[in-house]
Amino acid sequence: MREKTLLLIKPDGVARGLENEIFKRVEAAGLMVEVKQNTTLTTAQAAELYQPHLGKSFYAGLVKFITSGPVIATIVSGENAISRVRELMGATDPLKAAAGSLRGDLREANVINEYGVIKNLVHGSDSPESAAREIAIFFK
Ligand code: RTP
Ligand code: MG
Repeated sequence: MREKTLLLIKPDGVARGLENEIFKRVEAAGLMVEVKQNTTLTTAQAAELYQPHLGKSFYAGLVKFITSGPVIATIVSGENAISRVRELMGATDPLKAAAGSLRGDLREANVINEYGVIKNLVHGSDSPESAAREIAIFFK
């Protein structure tokens, strides 16, 4: 099924200048980066993005980190784009992410940031419902 998903390059990915490498890998997988938006999240946008994590121990750190600097929000489209982007990203913990995945190949030696959350470069929607909700945070 043809799908759209939100792929967000997080502040660590932007700070390290990894956007071109990330977009190259997404496009090499046959997916299309339809639109890109350079932005910095407001606390309200971060709260909406991370609403499913509200109440977890790392929630406050997540919101602080994602609002700490510029990000690039993109809509990626293609056949099974939601699961394929998640595969390209690799596991949440870069130390466990497979070789060949973004998080595995591009990880830093220290994967925990100053807010106590895992630095893993990218966010990708995890379901069609998340994709619709998350795309709407950035794109009208
Ligand atoms: P994302 O939402 O960023 O695409 O990542 P994900 O689905 O692989 O991971 P998720 O479970 O949704 O967690 C969201 C983000 O929270 C941070 N995290 N830290 N300290 C911890 O144990 C912990 N667990 C999750 C990570 O930055 C993760 O990407
Ligand atoms: Mg997630």
